Amino acid sequence: MHAIPANGARIPALGFGTWTLKGRVARDLVAAAIATGWRHIDTAAMYGNEEDVGAGIRAGGVARDRLFVTTKVWHTDLAARDLRRSAQASLKRLGLDTLDLLLVHWPNPRIPLAETIGALNRAREDGLTRHIGVSNFPTALFAEAVRLSDAPLAANQVEHHPYLDQSKVASACRAAGSALIGYSPLHRGGALLSEEPVAAAAAAHGRTPAQIVLRWHVQQPGTAAIPRTSNPARLAENLEVFDFDLSASEMRGISALQTAGHRLCDYAFSPHWD
Ligand SMILES: NC(=O)c1ccc[n+]([C@@H]2O[C@H](COP(=O)([O-])OP(=O)(O)OC[C@H]3O[C@@H](n4cnc5c(N)ncnc54)[C@H](OP(=O)(O)O)[C@@H]3O)[C@@H](O)[C@H]2O)c1
Repeated sequence: MHAIPANGARIPALGFGTWTLKGRVARDLVAAAIATGWRHIDTAAMYGNEEDVGAGIRAGGVARDRLFVTTKVWHTDLAARDLRRSAQASLKRLGLDTLDLLLVHWPNPRIPLAETIGALNRAREDGLTRHIGVSNFPTALFAEAVRLSDAPLAANQVEHHPYLDQSKVASACRAAGSALIGYSPLHRGGALLSEEPVAAAAAAHGRTPAQIVLRWHVQQPGTAAIPRTSNPARLAENLEVFDFDLSASEMRGISALQTAGHRLCDYAFSPHWD
C-alpha cells in the first residue's frame, strides 16, 4: 500500500478505524482486515477495545514490524504522569511492546500543552512509541505543539471528508512535514455517498461511491484516511483504491461539496476550529 513519509514515519495511506467496534466483532474484523491487506490500525484508549484490537492483530498473522498501530491518550489524561500511565496501559491492553504512533486524542486547555508535549516526547524517547502526534488540533494549537516538541510530529489526525474544508490544517501539516490523517473519511457512509460528483465518478470509473471518496482522500498529498466498517465484505472494497486516478476536475468537483457546518465530531470540549 502507498505509504506517506511523515517526519521519519511511513504511514500507510489507509488505516482501519475501530471506533465503536468491540469484543469478538472487533477482534475478528481487525484480523480479517490484516488478512485482506490493511497494515495500519487505529484505536484509542477511549474506545475501550484495545484488548480486542490487540487480539485481532495477533490473529491477523502478519509480522508486527509490517503493521502500523496507532492509539491515543484521552484528553483528561494529559498531565505528564497520566499520559505515561495511559500509554503504558494501552500497550498492556494491546499486548504490544511499542506503538507506531501515539496521539493526544483532543487538546485540553486546562493542562499546559508544554507538559503534555514533553510527556509525549518522553514516551517516545523511552520506547513506548516510535512516533508521536496529535489529533483534533486546529492550526494555531498545532503550530504551538510543533514548536514545543523535540521530536517532529508525525501527524495531526482530524475530521476530514468532502463536506469539510480542512485546507488550513492540511497546509499546516504539509509545512511541518506531518501527515494529515483523516477520520470519519466517509462522513459515516451517509448522504455524501449519493452526492452527484461522487456518483458520477463512481459510474465513470466503475467503482463504488465509497471507493471514490477514499480515492479523493489518498490522492491528496500527505493525506491518509482511516475508514471504519463493521461489514467484512467492505474490507477489500475500501482498500482497492490504489489502481485508478480521479481527474483534476473530478477532484475539484468532490472538493466543492465542502460547506461549513458538516462537522460530525464537535463536543463541548472541542477547541475553536479553524
Ligand atoms: N481522533 C478522533 O477524534 C476520531 C474521531 C472519530 C473517528 N476517529 C477514527 O476514525 C475512524 C473512522 O471514522 P468514523 O468511524 O467516524 O466514520 P467513517 O469511517 O467515515 O464511516 C463509518 C461508516 O461508514 C460505513 N461504511 C464503511 N465502508 C463503507 C462502504 N464501502 N460503503 C458504504 N458505507 C460504508 C460504515 O458502515 P458499515 O459498518 O455498515 O460498513 C460505518 O457506518 C474511527 O473508527 C476511528 O478509528 C477518530
